[in-house]
Amino acid sequence: MKRDYPHLCEPITINRTVFRHRMVSAPLGATDITPVGSPGPRTQGFYEARAKGGAASVTVSELVVHPATDGSQMLKLSLETPGQLAAFTYVADAIKRHGAVPSIELSHSGQYAGTYMVDKEKKKTLGQFGPSEGVRPDGLPVIPLDKDQIAQIVAAYANAATLAKRCGFGMVMVHAGHSWLLNQFLSPYFNRRTDEYGGSLENRMRITREVLMAVREAVGPYFPLELRISGSEFLEGGYDLAEGVRIAQGLEELVDIIHVSAGSYQFGFTITHPSMFKPHGLNVPLAAEIKKHVKVPVATVGALSDPAQMEGIVAQGEADIVVIGRALLADPEIPNKVMANRGEDVVKCLRCFVCMAERPVTQTRRCAVNPLIGRESEGLEVPVAGAKKNVLVVGGGIAGMKAATTAALRGHRVTLCEKSAELGGILKTEKAIPFKYDMYLLGQTYARMCDQMGVDIRLNTPVDAAWVDDFAPDALIVAPGSRPLKPPIAGIDRANALSVNELYLEGIKSGNEVVILGGGLTGCECALHLTLEGSTCHLVEMRSELAPDANIRHRPILLAELEAAGVDVLLNTTGKEVVADGLIVADEKGDERLILGDTVVYAVGQLSCSEEVDTLRDGAPWVRVIGDALRPANITTAIYEGYHAGLDI
Ligand SMILES: Cc1cc2nc3c(=O)[nH]c(=O)nc-3n(C[C@H](O)[C@H](O)[C@H](O)COP(=O)(O)O)c2cc1C
Repeated sequence: MKRDYPHLCEPITINRTVFRHRMVSAPLGATDITPVGSPGPRTQGFYEARAKGGAASVTVSELVVHPATDGSQMLKLSLETPGQLAAFTYVADAIKRHGAVPSIELSHSGQYAGTYMVDKEKKKTLGQFGPSEGVRPDGLPVIPLDKDQIAQIVAAYANAATLAKRCGFGMVMVHAGHSWLLNQFLSPYFNRRTDEYGGSLENRMRITREVLMAVREAVGPYFPLELRISGSEFLEGGYDLAEGVRIAQGLEELVDIIHVSAGSYQFGFTITHPSMFKPHGLNVPLAAEIKKHVKVPVATVGALSDPAQMEGIVAQGEADIVVIGRALLADPEIPNKVMANRGEDVVKCLRCFVCMAERPVTQTRRCAVNPLIGRESEGLEVPVAGAKKNVLVVGGGIAGMKAATTAALRGHRVTLCEKSAELGGILKTEKAIPFKYDMYLLGQTYARMCDQMGVDIRLNTPVDAAWVDDFAPDALIVAPGSRPLKPPIAGIDRANALSVNELYLEGIKSGNEVVILGGGLTGCECALHLTLEGSTCHLVEMRSELAPDANIRHRPILLAELEAAGVDVLLNTTGKEVVADGLIVADEKGDERLILGDTVVYAVGQLSCSEEVDTLRDGAPWVRVIGDALRPANITTAIYEGYHAGLDI
């Protein structure tokens, strides 16, 4: 068979271990961790699904090697806790049996101990250890490690590697990036020591060298050892790419793969986990530069999900291996799809940070586009239905399409009616916004899937109760979505006022100076987009904060983008009247003034299409209302409800 992505699909042998192709699963922290730090059954299922999806290796993360100085809540591997080896061995087995190399990330958070801890009070009592005395951004003091502690930590890496190998892991990764402990030592920003562990680069690399030598000693010469670094810290006072190259050169003799990530947690996650405002594959130049200076294979990571782009990276020799993180949360089957020339079917990661936002809140994982995330152990297969039913789905938004494809997969005969001329629902509005284009593509991907799965798609087909009666479905899924809420203020029907949905769906030009009424997530993203397109934007919000509906990881990044773009933000300000030349607003005291603008765009929320829902409630013996039609929410909810509706028929 001729592969569409021949370079990406080519096997690579590293230190006598064959990796079946170049796509590997990035370290992605588990959430089901027992009180003693072992992987729980859901964690095993989580990693196994990525192996079954075809990844060449799956990295279990992140194993805290020295709990005495790193009181995080991650996995811990120790002989002192009976039963632990078994749990890790089962995880390694579960990865191996699908043809992937099981790897495990050895880690120490250093002064970032407890970063993901939900229990903020407990976090304060951990004692955060780093290279030098200091204060973390959250105000917690950092205790400098003494040399005895450093020696214990080095020994602990070796001990964990020995145990990991015994459990059946076929590779280990040492994490020295992202401001974790070894990176803190490498970094002139964090490391201000004056002993042999600080000062010159040679000294700053010392602990990492000691760790790598100890790990090598523990695992033996013919065992792949991967080193994860930040190619550049992108941090004022930290190291840059030129020094990143020297770090890679200084350590390459001790490792088999240099894995080049980027950034530091010191100022948030936008570089370590590239946000939707960054280009895809933005770290590739770092890996490409490092690759020019080292002999060992180099891996790249960061916002990679497009098979063609990944193929180009390997084909052009920018990196030997492509590491995929969030995109494998969104679609664990990417490697299988790439191998099978089904690149078009990849369900792309939206980089919305739902995956990272959920853990500090509920200790679970969610993914906007993958309803099974974190509970893979319950089963991944969509069971074929016992009896084939005649299913009608009303509404071709993402909820309706997810329901339709799931029901079709189960073998039902599915008809999908959409009143407009195109599938995609509210996701069609994202087409114009470059940083949300992947959301638009999600709609397109599902539209294609509906077609491929034989769903009878009827566009321009509004349905009412009589139509449904006539059709007589066995099961009816009602997903007509939502419509924009029109704020009840004077002048809102003027020609210069429109909803954010109209702006995007109808491609109406907004003018040079725009007033946006509503500073929730949608209003903020609209203001940012129009500003980046060259308009002057005034963002009016009656509450005292912007985007409270954005998740806790996306929100700070969005707010920073708004500030950098120079959006004029008016908080505690209420829209009163749309007039010919803008919006009259009132401040907290009730004082009114005119905000000038050619156009007033309102983004004050969505209303469920409840009249349509009410007329269809009795349309079939089995009826389920899903998505925005039930309650305006988000993609995560729409996909989750669509999937389960399809499964329940
Ligand atoms: C949910 C989640 C958990 C992660 N856990 C870890 C981890 O435990 N260790 C680590 O080194 N990186 C971790 N990362 C970072 C990823 O390995 C990767 O570097 C980052 O997500 C950027 O790659 P991507 O754009 O392909 O997602 C995590 C990322 C996510 C989204």
